[in-house]
Amino acid sequence: MIEVGNLSKHYGNKAAVDDLSFTVSPGRVTGFLGPNGAGKSTTMRLILGLDRPSGGTATIDGVEYADLVEPLRVVGALLEAGAVHPGRSARNHLLYLAQNQGIASRRVDEVLDLVGLHDVAHDRVGGFSLGMRQRLGIASALLGDPRVLILDEPVNGLDPDGIFWFRNLMKYLASEGRRSLSPAT
Ligand SMILES: Nc1ncnc2c1ncn2[C@@H]1O[C@H](COP(=O)(O)OP(=O)(O)O)[C@@H](O)[C@H]1O
Ligand SMILES: [Mg+2]
Repeated sequence: MIEVGNLSKHYGNKAAVDDLSFTVSPGRVTGFLGPNGAGKSTTMRLILGLDRPSGGTATIDGVEYADLVEPLRVVGALLEAGAVHPGRSARNHLLYLAQNQGIASRRVDEVLDLVGLHDVAHDRVGGFSLGMRQRLGIASALLGDPRVLILDEPVNGLDPDGIFWFRNLMKYLASEGRRSLSPAT
């Protein structure tokens, strides 16, 4: 369960998030709906401990993200500006993430298959299209087989087939009892 209680974030005198409360239950795909600048990405950064709230709390299964022992195994995240070394291959990028978190390299090949990047696994990420980068970001989020997924604009750059694939993937993961949180796009 993701629990957000009276969460606020101010940048100077501007309120990016203002007294927001909600819960995300297991097995549910929950979307944020709101125009640009509504505070969707900020809320996700606050849940992920990448920014400090001005007030309120955000917890995952009762603890703050920073207190999770093996965070990649609990929460998978895809944020807007996914930084990937352009000279690295997709597979090497994932292997690097996996090694840092004690995840078996077998899992890297599983997620490459899952997101449809198997055939380009050894290509430089620098030559990837936006949709392929987005698939790589989704693969990174799935690497630790997390119970919770937090995805910001996950279908950005995906073609209609990709969007269809992504929706089915979310339904499938939710049916296994996971939670995911993403802005509806
Ligand atoms: N690091 C930051 N510094 C200053 N203002 C920010 C920062 N991040 C977000 N904001 C502001 O907070 C508001 C919410 O932004 P954001 O969460 O990115 O919205 P959304 O993802 O819904 O489009 C916007 O007005 C944005 O300009
Ligand atoms: Mg955003």
